[in-house]
Amino acid sequence: MEKVALAFSGGLDTSVCVPLLEEEYGAAEVIGVTVDVGQPQAELDEAIETARALDLEHHMVDETEAFAALCLRSVRANASYQGYPLGTALARPIIAQAISEVAQAEGCDALAHGCTGKGNDQLRFEAVWRRSSMEVVAPVRELGLTRAWEIEYAADRAIPVEAGNEGDWSIDANLWSRSIEGGELEDPTSIPPEEIYEWTAPISSRPTEPAYLTIGFNEGVPVSIDGEALDPVTLIEQLNDLGGRHGVGRNDLMEDRMLGLKVRSNYEHPAATILLMAHTALEELVLTTDERNFKRYVDDQWAQKAYEGLIDGPFIGALEGFIDTTQGRVTGAVTMLVHDGLARPVARDSEHAVYSKEAASFNTETVHGIEQSDATGVAKYHGFQERFVSESMREQQTDIEE
Ligand code: ARG
Repeated sequence: MEKVALAFSGGLDTSVCVPLLEEEYGAAEVIGVTVDVGQPQAELDEAIETARALDLEHHMVDETEAFAALCLRSVRANASYQGYPLGTALARPIIAQAISEVAQAEGCDALAHGCTGKGNDQLRFEAVWRRSSMEVVAPVRELGLTRAWEIEYAADRAIPVEAGNEGDWSIDANLWSRSIEGGELEDPTSIPPEEIYEWTAPISSRPTEPAYLTIGFNEGVPVSIDGEALDPVTLIEQLNDLGGRHGVGRNDLMEDRMLGLKVRSNYEHPAATILLMAHTALEELVLTTDERNFKRYVDDQWAQKAYEGLIDGPFIGALEGFIDTTQGRVTGAVTMLVHDGLARPVARDSEHAVYSKEAASFNTETVHGIEQSDATGVAKYHGFQERFVSESMREQQTDIEE
């Protein structure tokens, strides 16, 4: 291996990979690539500083806009995997692709990541990377490193490790979600301590007054808040901020990872919670019963593949054929009430509503040429087959008794 491009976050795992790639893999040169997908500025700064301290050639690629667009695309699919709106999962293919492009441009012959052999991210990175002819290496997994070993190794080599890295938590944050795993969360009987949350206010310091906000949708994509058109990054940031102040979007899950291992994971994702609920509420107004029923299945499959990091595969492409057709009518607005950890739709409006107030109302006579008494025939037929079944059961019962 001559020159290797390392997916570099500045965290403990990726920092120890730098010397290990040289010592254990014989890399002549290592470059670090950090991809900005809307993680907190402090994290990006930490990557830059750690790279400098390691004397690592460092590249920063900004993919925030592409990532925000993908997050909003996922809203059209109501994308949620076991209650998790997929922040990390959606970001990985974009990060992997950006790194592979830098590697190509810099004449690298290998790609490396610092993922362990237990999680999903190794699979998501490599699903993208193994399409190229470059060698792929994963030191933490291949050398079987533990966190304790890494901390000691870092101390030995004077590898600068931020205090956060030595903490108990394994954290991954981007524009769409913040994920917290590890530490005492690994015990499902432990109650998550308040300190793990950064985006969402604790119960004790949330506004007492609820907030009402109206999300505008165009063909299934959220485009505005309270009538003000916003670009995807700003729209998500504003909702993270507002929802977070009200404590919206916390999640404590037992998540089934791709390898079959369950993981106790905690999340914060205020904007995703608000947008997914608002989008579902609008679909409830404009989609037919059949579309709603079938779309739940399509959405589930979409989320499953997105979780696996196969966002640009043919299966998602095929599912999006159905999603695109339905979303043509998902244009309108939903008003959300946000308060004390909860978000819920309170009003919805669309010119494509599959709804007639008159037809549904208890107060009107004949509408659309239909009157109440027309239902009598339907009521006579409804349950026709079930009547036969209950009759034969009754006969059987009397036979037994006789
Ligand atoms: N369990 C989530 C996923 O697989 C998040 C993983 C993020 N990593 C972390 N160290 N918190 O997408």
